[in-house]
Amino acid sequence: MNDLAGKHIVLGLTGGIACYKAAELCRALIKEGATVQVIMTEAAAQFITPVTMQALSNRPVYGSQWDAREPNNMAHINLSREADAILIAPCSADFMAKLLHGRADDLLSLTCLARPLDKVPLLIAPAMNREMWAHPATQRNLAQLRADGSTVFDVGTGDQACGETGDGRMLESEELLEDVIAFFQPKGLHGQHVLVTAGPTYEAIDPVRGITNLSSGKMGFAIARAAREAGASVTLVAGPVHLPTPRGVTRINVVSAQNMLEATVERAQAATIFVATSAVADWRPAHVKDQKIKKDGSGTTPTLQFVENPDILATLAQSPRAVSGDLFCVGFAAESQDLLANATAKRVRKGVPLLVGNIGPATFGQDDNALLLVDAHGARELPRNSKLALARQLVAEIANRKKI
Ligand code: CTP
Repeated sequence: MNDLAGKHIVLGLTGGIACYKAAELCRALIKEGATVQVIMTEAAAQFITPVTMQALSNRPVYGSQWDAREPNNMAHINLSREADAILIAPCSADFMAKLLHGRADDLLSLTCLARPLDKVPLLIAPAMNREMWAHPATQRNLAQLRADGSTVFDVGTGDQACGETGDGRMLESEELLEDVIAFFQPKGLHGQHVLVTAGPTYEAIDPVRGITNLSSGKMGFAIARAAREAGASVTLVAGPVHLPTPRGVTRINVVSAQNMLEATVERAQAATIFVATSAVADWRPAHVKDQKIKKDGSGTTPTLQFVENPDILATLAQSPRAVSGDLFCVGFAAESQDLLANATAKRVRKGVPLLVGNIGPATFGQDDNALLLVDAHGARELPRNSKLALARQLVAEIANRKKI
């Protein structure tokens, strides 16, 4: 993906051990299609050399407001005018304090102050010792920077370079990359609470065996990520899958269809949008054995009896909040053939305003997919693309419909 194609980012480094992560971040931004102009403070240059950052960004690094390379000698104006965002990573406690007061005695702070407020957003990735982070002065500065319109990313938690453990580390480069990409996405779901089910369910036969399916959960996880990027608060109820939780998403792990139903019904109270992508097992063994079923040597095979699992989507689609329009429900249909006919019939059967059809065997485990959106007015195809790209398109479609 080239999620930052066409974006020009001024990457500002201030003094902190986390400067080493800025090197990785610079590469990652460029890999996503951005161009990166690095500005370093004097303190940053104590931690990592401008040569490293120049080699990674493929551009000369700026460090001084007296840099004679600029014909008009106004680096702070020139650099800020061409940026789509200024990202300060790492941002030290001292630099936060400086930004807050509008001080401008070095090139980076000068560039931040000189940027056109309505065109060039300021993104801040704090990095400091846990005591510095927790200090009331820092927390006050953080609140004021947000109030002034800056986006301040979270900090990480864990071991710190000083040997202490706690909050205040800079996020890892891949986490910051995800946050920067999210920042640039349209905010169509701002204020919404999205609930997503994803992955397969696992229905136990005995303590060591069970019935499941080939769903990888990738589509549901991509939708959770896209919804969070679009400004929603997101809860993801996930069956057993080995996928990393998208940034900023609350994840609840479940095993069986019954677990998934309970977690989903509880969380649906606060949700405004429900997207059911999970491949819920239709049936579960009627009796779960306490002990492993053993071969008895006679060649007799065990006979399993099944009962039908609850239909989570249909349950929520019939709930009073869904019927009154407070909870917008979206279903998925995993079919093996006759997609349009099956998806159209399933939408009516499940009682949902929007149903998304896909061919199960062609998508399970893959990174891309093709979707068919079916609503009361007809069907529309979202052609084959990465699951994240499709998830973003679907989120935009949901945002449009939720408004109506
Ligand atoms: N679904 C659900 N609970 C179930 C079964 C399905 O919430 N017990 C949801 C799925 O998450 C999906 C939609 O219903 O959003 C359709 O799932 P699918 O497996 O395609 O359909 P089924 O209802 O199982 O119907 P069929 O087996 O006849 O295709």
